[in-house]
Amino acid sequence: MTVTVEQRPPTPSGPPKLSREELLRAQRETLDTPRMDYSLLARLMFKPVDLMYGKEGSYTKFAMLEIIARVPYQAWERIGYLLVHRHAGRSALARRVFERIVEARADQDNEQWHLLILQDLVQRTGQRQSWLPHKVAPWLIAFFYYHVSWLLFLLRPDWSYRLNAEFEDHAEHEYMTFVAEHPELELVPDPGTYAAEYGRYRSVADLLRQIGHDERTHKLDSLESMREPRVR
Ligand SMILES: [Fe+2]
Ligand SMILES: [Fe+2]
Repeated sequence: MTVTVEQRPPTPSGPPKLSREELLRAQRETLDTPRMDYSLLARLMFKPVDLMYGKEGSYTKFAMLEIIARVPYQAWERIGYLLVHRHAGRSALARRVFERIVEARADQDNEQWHLLILQDLVQRTGQRQSWLPHKVAPWLIAFFYYHVSWLLFLLRPDWSYRLNAEFEDHAEHEYMTFVAEHPELELVPDPGTYAAEYGRYRSVADLLRQIGHDERTHKLDSLESMREPRVR
């Protein structure tokens, strides 16, 4: 017998794609909004990144940040599967946990596109990525962040969401500030390497504004999840 699925759970489409006017407005809003009050844990991750890659933004620094940006979503996905298993006898609850897993996976995918786009910009501008600062260091920070994320999520899920919101707020400000400080990027066309999957923008400046706005969306999602950190 063939069964037709009529109500497949929708896959989140990810952060909205903005028009040029909306991107410019989003950038102004970010630059007019003070950064969040970063916790000690967040500063423990930002500091080594600033020391290794400099305080100023750069494609190599952003690529590094994107490697570690996926980590909390991976940690939440993994814990989510354990919880689905634990709540297997309560199908409504298990389904709500699974919905959170689907969201975490969509955010991971979005961060993965950011990483691919940044790596592409690094290659196109011919910047070198050496072994220690661009392979070993991101791995070490990601390792630390992963374990902090799942541990926090088990103990105090609201803290885990808060830490991610701080990370996303930092990324949002870094991208929007970088674009403001590099007006020449308005004249560099978006290479469109991942246009089919991510969209194509007028310039690299707009492409980075879109990424910055995605980070804001991730931040707002985490702040929203903080209000109901445990799925009931
Ligand atoms: Fe990102
Ligand atoms: Fe993000």
